[in-house]
Amino acid sequence: MAQLELNDVSKIYRVGDSELTAMNRVSLQIEEGDFISIVGHSGSGKTTLVSVIGGILRPTSGRVLFEQDDICAMDDVQLSGYRNRKIGFMFQFASLLPMLTARENVMLAALFGRERSAEERQRADHLLELVGIGERAGAYPGELSGGQQRRVAIARALMNNPRMLLADEPTGDLDEETEAEIMSLLGKINREQQVTMLLITHNGALARTADRMLRMRQGSLISVT
Ligand SMILES: Nc1ncnc2c1ncn2[C@@H]1O[C@H](COP(=O)(O)OP(=O)(O)O)[C@@H](O)[C@H]1O
Ligand SMILES: [Mg+2]
Repeated sequence: MAQLELNDVSKIYRVGDSELTAMNRVSLQIEEGDFISIVGHSGSGKTTLVSVIGGILRPTSGRVLFEQDDICAMDDVQLSGYRNRKIGFMFQFASLLPMLTARENVMLAALFGRERSAEERQRADHLLELVGIGERAGAYPGELSGGQQRRVAIARALMNNPRMLLADEPTGDLDEETEAEIMSLLGKINREQQVTMLLITHNGALARTADRMLRMRQGSLISVT
């Protein structure tokens, strides 16, 4: 049984009188522990796809099963529970809150997730160690480099122990060397933490290092490897 299964999923945006098919009958199965990359031109529907998988966006039709739960059948409360407990998110920009320290940014995830506990700070520090910036736990985002901010964003995405990490062009504005570092960190987390990884990237060479590479083209999903 696949961890994630999409059956014939479409997303149609209605803008005024016109319709735009951002996802066109996409079917996909992802096994637990997979490292999947998704490439495709801007506007091909990549963000729409991960937003549907992450329970941020409801599809127009089709079925999405995560660990056998039909997430399309969930009400808003169940869906936010699903997002908080099962999915970790990383976006193009690190999106850290500037007035909070690295540690506090990581702990913030727990606020929206499980009940608060005394171990949260410890877990945040542990995760910052894991991503290689334990000694910067007390620094503010403005005091960190772009690569270091990405590391904090990864730690934050892992705070609630997600089953799957969705990363939407997480290294967008980084230089090549830092990008490669962040990618190898994601690979390490995939292997060592058994987190399924779904990575959208513009970098074809990096995308090919994944277990499986998919391509979006005008709302359709094409399997490359
Ligand atoms: N909220 C929205 N309303 C209307 N159209 C949208 C919306 N979000 C995305 N689109 C359109 O859907 C298509 C796919 O967008 P997106 O999933 O963001 O592509 P990608 O991430 O591959 O660049 C694009 O044509 C985009 O303009
Ligand atoms: Mg996008």
